[in-house]
Amino acid sequence: MGLHEEIERRRTFAVISHPDAGKTTLTEKLLLYGGAIQTAGAVKSNKIRKGATSDFMEIERQRGISVSTSVMTFAYGGRLINLLDTPGHKDFAEDTFRTLTAVDSVVLVVDCVKGVEAQTERLMQVCRMRDTPVIIFINKLDLEGRDPYSLLDELEEKLDIRVRPMTWPIGIGATFKGVYDLHRRKLRLFQPDKTKVESTAVDIADLNDPEVDRHIGREAADMLREEADLVNGVYDPFDRSTYLAAKVAPVFFGSAVNNFGVKETLDTFIEIAPPPQPRPTDQGLVSPEDPAFSGFVFKIHANLDPNHRDRIAFLRICSGRFQRNTFYHHVRLDRSVRFANPTSFLAASKNVVDEAWPGDVIGLFDTGIFKIGDTLTEGARFQFRGIPAFSPELFRELANLDPMRSKQLDKGIRQLTDEGVAQLFTQTQGNKKIVGTVGELQFEVIRYRLENEYGAKCTFHTIPAYKACWLTSEDPQVLDEFCRIKAGQIVLDKDGNRVFMAPSAYILDLERRNNPEITFHTTSEFKTALADT
Ligand code: G4P
Repeated sequence: MGLHEEIERRRTFAVISHPDAGKTTLTEKLLLYGGAIQTAGAVKSNKIRKGATSDFMEIERQRGISVSTSVMTFAYGGRLINLLDTPGHKDFAEDTFRTLTAVDSVVLVVDCVKGVEAQTERLMQVCRMRDTPVIIFINKLDLEGRDPYSLLDELEEKLDIRVRPMTWPIGIGATFKGVYDLHRRKLRLFQPDKTKVESTAVDIADLNDPEVDRHIGREAADMLREEADLVNGVYDPFDRSTYLAAKVAPVFFGSAVNNFGVKETLDTFIEIAPPPQPRPTDQGLVSPEDPAFSGFVFKIHANLDPNHRDRIAFLRICSGRFQRNTFYHHVRLDRSVRFANPTSFLAASKNVVDEAWPGDVIGLFDTGIFKIGDTLTEGARFQFRGIPAFSPELFRELANLDPMRSKQLDKGIRQLTDEGVAQLFTQTQGNKKIVGTVGELQFEVIRYRLENEYGAKCTFHTIPAYKACWLTSEDPQVLDEFCRIKAGQIVLDKDGNRVFMAPSAYILDLERRNNPEITFHTTSEFKTALADT
């Protein structure tokens, strides 16, 4: 098979959800269809126990599990599917955001009782930033959930995307009888059964067929007819190009734990989801069809076990063919690197791979040469863009408890931030180190790892900081002047970019209004913006 065929076969995506909506359960069912696992229960929930903030065994357990399920590759319907896992715990949201840069589409799981939740909104914002196509799976229809119309309205409103129901539920909770597949014109009957592989399907060319009454009863059949008419009248017919442009999200209703509605979602996924897409670099788009290999690191996994200090860098291949034992160009370090044992993640076990293609994710044994966002090429000097470094939400000053070990502390915190555990800022006045994270748990992880891996002891002090804002301006003098006046609140990120540490929402708003020539970037794309200025 040539490059073109390899690309056309591949679909690389992630399942995302607010914790507890059913991501792990749906993933497991998808893997059962793909033959990647044989029995239900094989994929352990990768959630850290709720409320755990300092249980390191729990963190370690989560990390241990998450490496083996980081990428799950399976074949289904003539496609080779790479399913990228995302951590369940909200404190690891930044990991999830980065993983989303390595996929071509997503399946979003929404709980029909709870509707759109906080994390659902944040994840969708990231998808929208890069126009990632989304399929929505509304889960737990076996529970007394909300009315489907109100759920669909909420999705459109809160997620800022149009929706198109592909199936329609017949009843909900105790009265849930199944779904009508509006796309394939099939009635799928629901029988709660967690071991079942497929639901019973009845072909229905015309909903007026009395067969429908026979299966679901007269009353439900009449209601379905009415609702199907309404849905087809209210929502535009499904159009693949608007889905691929991330303007509309097809919606499925089901119950993951009962394996209901999952197969339709997967079948539609392989029919409509995009193959590996071009990716932006500082020198324009790179097409997967470009025969020269390129890829970027979107995740680094370190082993917490002090006896196994290995790190794995996860590389998404963006163009050409990757080959084992071949020299590639590490763009940031401007040097050649070669990998003897790159691994793939076929069937959740690690195998050495000789070659890999666009859309694939491989694990590279990392001796400390990689940072999140690093680019590998066949020699070209471009860098992939848009690898997010989100504005952290919690900030603490890092205080050294053992002055004899400050070198180790310095090295440790730099390496951990290279891995993307947290972000590091240094004060321009006073040299204090500020660590920013998206969750409380990261401070515990950092303290634990600095002590266990680097022999350095530290603690964290609370500081008044609300948001880190990367600064850009068309006029460098305006920016210099602002940084001079605000020197006390200006810090440098690890790449030496100037960042305004806003103490409160009020002050940030004020500074924005007082300094219209300066842009205050609070999300990831600041790197793109900096490259543009
Ligand atoms: P997550 O990865 O998104 O965090 O969610 P996960 O799949 O772990 O599911 C969260 C809980 O919701 C689990 O229950 C799971 O069994 C349940 N669940 C998933 N799909 C459905 C569904 O279609 N209907 C119903 N009623 N429940 C569903 P748990 O009690 O937290 O865990 P477990 O002991 O069942 O594993």
